[in-house]
Amino acid sequence: MTYLLALDQGTSSSRSILFHRDGHAVAMAQRELPQIFPRPGWVEHDPMEIWNAQLATAREALAQAGVGAAQVQAIGITNQRETTLLWDRRTGRPLHHALVWQDRRSEPLCARLREEGHAPTIQAKTGLVVDAYFSATKLRWLLDHVDGARAAAERGELAFGTVDSWLVWQLTGGRVHATDVSNASRTMLFNVHDNTWDAELLQLLQIPPSLLPRVQPSSSAFAETDPALFGRALPICGVAGDQQSALFGQACFSAGMAKNTYGTGCFLLMHTGERFQPSHNGLVVTSAAQTSATPQYAMEGSVFVGGAVVQWLRDGLKAIEGSAQVQALAESVPDAGGVMLVPAFTGLGAPYWNAEARGTITGLTRGTTLAHIARAALESIAFQSAALLTAMSRDVQAAGGAPVAELRVDGGAAVNDLLMQFQADLLGIPVVRPAVTETTALGAAYLAGLACGVYAGTDELSAQWRAERRFEPAMDRARAAEAMARWERAVRQTVQD
Ligand code: G3P
Repeated sequence: MTYLLALDQGTSSSRSILFHRDGHAVAMAQRELPQIFPRPGWVEHDPMEIWNAQLATAREALAQAGVGAAQVQAIGITNQRETTLLWDRRTGRPLHHALVWQDRRSEPLCARLREEGHAPTIQAKTGLVVDAYFSATKLRWLLDHVDGARAAAERGELAFGTVDSWLVWQLTGGRVHATDVSNASRTMLFNVHDNTWDAELLQLLQIPPSLLPRVQPSSSAFAETDPALFGRALPICGVAGDQQSALFGQACFSAGMAKNTYGTGCFLLMHTGERFQPSHNGLVVTSAAQTSATPQYAMEGSVFVGGAVVQWLRDGLKAIEGSAQVQALAESVPDAGGVMLVPAFTGLGAPYWNAEARGTITGLTRGTTLAHIARAALESIAFQSAALLTAMSRDVQAAGGAPVAELRVDGGAAVNDLLMQFQADLLGIPVVRPAVTETTALGAAYLAGLACGVYAGTDELSAQWRAERRFEPAMDRARAAEAMARWERAVRQTVQD
């Protein structure tokens, strides 16, 4: 029997999933990750908690399946992206908590970079918009604010890494400091055209190059684990940021193939092949998971509040007791009765990029019930995702590409049939849910399996991908267009004076 072990280190939990080579999950272990909020807008994780929970779940998954390390062919790592860590190379001790991707503390530096006119150069080199979301300004904050950090960094004593690098470091007992192109592309320090750290950006942000990990293709031999951890040294052969890993796990390997992950937020990625195609519609360009040295790209848009709107119904409004209730409540009415809910609780991300926007509910009448609001909340997830895909299609068509033919879906809220049907109705293309919805972890397992010879090539993985259900668009196109226009009108109401 051949197994692949995927370590999936996400924002809210650390999980490990053991996959059979045919792609089905044999065992899964999970631990919640405590969130640390030292001030409004600041979000941190304890690096040692990340590592300890990850190791514990890896061991639990193996024990659950009764699989010994001898039967594990390779490890693949996938992770929350952009989250920034800094540690001492000699002791392995973190200098500070990890600054999580949601952390906004470095926004003033980003504003300065934008004011000084650096945004076009940064976008041309990295594909990204200048935002505190990405790692560069977080790392700069750490160097500027942690006592002695800059001097130690100048002496070459420190290592920077995203969560994947931290895990590789720990898994190898501090022998290997590496990352992959997909994670590197989220730092705002990486030139995605030639897959190297960009000297000009490092200088602009005053980041000493000695801090940086080696960068490899996502599917390649990264290292071997410390034999003491699992009883034998296991090869680490796959590393990718979670969204690019999900794109890979959905077998979206060529230009025009797209996936949407419905989690707390939503992340929509479309593969654009070997072509770097900057967005004129508020999206970012990112490196896709790569199996060779040749750069491959994806266009990405994210929705800040996706499934989190259901948590708000539960915890904020106390309108439902459990998240599972939302579908039944929403289905108890034929439609949202003209209600639109825009959950711009923390501003709006792509394609609107308005940090000051705040949530709004429009179209209330005397006949509006909680069920209408629940339905509007659910529909808001689909409206935001549709706005992203529309923006992507504009970019693609302007560059002469073909429109997206179907949208592959995964993540917690993708189990909601009502939401998936509404998504297909709005988009006018089929929405397809795969048999294996753990696509993020599966992508990491596939990347590892390809590099260690379990699979001959991506064709084998495409053949292995199976749909569980296709949601065909059923709404009249004129009605869908009218619904999108009403959504856009509601979005305009979120702008604060
Ligand atoms: O860019 C942030 C993303 O990688 C986080 O994903 O699934 O950990 O919320 P997740």
